[in-house]
Amino acid sequence: MRYCLVLGICWICSIHNGAVHWETIGQEISTPAQFDVSTREEVTDITTTSYVECSNSQSNCKILNDTLNICADVPHAVILCQGYCHLCNAVNGNWSEWTKWGTCDVTCGNGTKIRSRKCDNPAPSHGGGYCVGASEDIDFCSKHKCPVHGSWGTWSDWSNCSKECGPGLRNRTRRCDHPEPSADGNHCFGASINYEVCGQQECTDVPMILFRVRSPSHIYTSQGANIVFSIIDINEGRGYDAESGQFRAPVNGTYSFIAQYCVAEQGFAQIELVKDGSSLQKGGIMASLTRHCADLHAMVFLHRGERVWIRSTFATHFSESLLAWSTFSGALYYV
Ligand SMILES: *[C@@H]1O[C@H](CO)[C@@H](O)[C@H](O)[C@H]1NC(C)=O
Ligand SMILES: *[C@@H]1O[C@H](CO)[C@@H](O)[C@H](O)[C@H]1NC(C)=O
Ligand SMILES: *[C@@H]1O[C@H](CO)[C@@H](O)[C@H](O)[C@H]1NC(C)=O
Ligand SMILES: *[C@@H]1O[C@H](CO)[C@@H](O)[C@H](O)[C@H]1NC(C)=O
Ligand SMILES: *[C@@H]1O[C@H](CO)[C@@H](O)[C@H](O)[C@H]1NC(C)=O
Ligand SMILES: *[C@@H]1O[C@H](CO)[C@@H](O)[C@H](O)[C@H]1NC(C)=O
Repeated sequence: MRYCLVLGICWICSIHNGAVHWETIGQEISTPAQFDVSTREEVTDITTTSYVECSNSQSNCKILNDTLNICADVPHAVILCQGYCHLCNAVNGNWSEWTKWGTCDVTCGNGTKIRSRKCDNPAPSHGGGYCVGASEDIDFCSKHKCPVHGSWGTWSDWSNCSKECGPGLRNRTRRCDHPEPSADGNHCFGASINYEVCGQQECTDVPMILFRVRSPSHIYTSQGANIVFSIIDINEGRGYDAESGQFRAPVNGTYSFIAQYCVAEQGFAQIELVKDGSSLQKGGIMASLTRHCADLHAMVFLHRGERVWIRSTFATHFSESLLAWSTFSGALYYV
């Protein structure tokens, strides 16, 4: 704020481009009528110059007080009109030094701290003004990171059932990552996996795979020949191939095979059950006085597509009659 001395009277004023504007704080006032601005004395910024003796009760202070209520504005009245406003002994307050910063108001993380000062250096007296400014100062402070307790994320989707049919279990999981615990925070409480019975669908039965064939197409076979049967009694599941004489597994599973082979008197047979070329079972007979039968039995796990058939291991002479059949049969009995 600037004060202008005109004809020995102080005014609150401002100077723009050399022109004097008379005003009070926030409000423009007209130049007092009894003073002609053109006759103004030197414009002086009296805030920085010496001011009138306190004992001197200035006459212009009445005008200042009547128009601007200067006596209520203690800091300025002390400068301009001490005597008139009875502020000769006024002592304005002055702040003490700031106290040390107080402690941070949190135990972890970000907080605030405060320092303060008092208007007692000196305290205002004899009408002096109170200290200007805030008595408290606030600043940010921080301590070690706060512990973050873990919290569960959402459950995953349910897994597929552990069994394709019949009762099984499915599960779902969740992770302690929403958020993850940190800075000694607690781990999530509770289970990270959860189970449920599943599989409403009944298991289907073992499929019917059964064949029985008889009557070798050649009574005489040479060593190493595959034996093909010409009469098909049953071929459920279409595993037996009448062309090659081989059974081909339609599904994975455990199969049982039986071959009965008969020879006439004086006849002989030596055969084997083979799976994809390797022997599962071997046998042979030789009849002396009457015809004779024997059998080969093998149980084997077959993957889908694997083949089982009968092969002669030596030149063989089957007997074919109504009373003695040479047969080859097999069935799936467990998947
Ligand atoms: C200054 O003016 C105010 C308001 O008009 C008045 O109450 C007060 O008495 C005056 N001060 C003096 C010292 O005359
Ligand atoms: C206020 O106090 C400060 C610190 O003691 C001092 O430096 C300053 O001069 C004082 N101001 C007044 C106007 O007394
Ligand atoms: C604490 O303050 C720092 C620096 O101002 C800021 O980077 C951080 O994010 C704040 N932490 C919290 C938990 O608000
Ligand atoms: C569940 O089964 C479906 C269909 O068989 C398959 O596409 C999917 O990949 C499986 N999902 C899992 C998680 O194994
Ligand atoms: C959850 O279920 C899937 C599918 O059945 C299985 O592969 C996995 O081992 C199971 N997990 C547990 C932990 O049991
Ligand atoms: C059959 O077994 C094979 C080898 O173990 C496997 O790869 C295949 O998936 C199985 N097929 C069926 C239909 O189970």
